[in-house]
Amino acid sequence: MQFSDIKLVISAVDPKQYPTDGLPEIALSGRSNVGKSSLINTLLSRKGLARTSSTPGKTQTLNFYNIANRLYFVDVPGYGYAKVSKKQREQFGHIIETYLQTRKQMKGVVLLVDARHAPTSDDVSMYNYLKYYEVPTLVVATKVDKIKRGQRVKQTKLIISALDMDPNDELIFFSSETKEGHDAVWRWIEQRSQL
Ligand code: GTP
Ligand code: MG
Repeated sequence: MQFSDIKLVISAVDPKQYPTDGLPEIALSGRSNVGKSSLINTLLSRKGLARTSSTPGKTQTLNFYNIANRLYFVDVPGYGYAKVSKKQREQFGHIIETYLQTRKQMKGVVLLVDARHAPTSDDVSMYNYLKYYEVPTLVVATKVDKIKRGQRVKQTKLIISALDMDPNDELIFFSSETKEGHDAVWRWIEQRSQL
């Protein structure tokens, strides 16, 4: 999809700051540094739109990107970064839970995991949490450019079994370097947000 009109509308920490125009929202979640901001940039063909960084924990607010007045991408704070304080971690947790539990126009979550590794215990907790609240979830295994083709079947099995994935949930390999998975992720987003 090509969009010309994309804006970061608000970096919110409180529901009072969420947009009020009722557009569908797709949230991106995953541990710190997994590649959420990069995925947003890749999907929108914008290099520096969502801030990416080699310093984990960069995104600490819910960042609402308005995509041509059709939908929002919501970049969620990354979890599982050891160096943030316990207090900060609780704050992030609270921001994320409030959003996921109360936001009616949130149509689904793209959960990013690292294609190279087994999902972490934080990934497992997040996936279980999403399933508990019956949130439609797309699992994206990113940084797939960093594994060999021959490892994919093994990594697929590992991710599916570690998350105990619901057979109705899809798993897509993705790379913000090669843009692999771009179309498949967009198809899911379009379907969920009924664009
Ligand atoms: P936080 O905002 O801290 O939660 O991180 P994030 O999940 O938004 O990660 P970000 O997009 O900032 O990416 C983290 C690092 O991984 C950056 O150095 C990116 O360039 C790199 N990266 C992200 N996606 C890919 C990918 O598909 N392939 C490769 N090779 N590197 C990637
Ligand atoms: Mg980020």
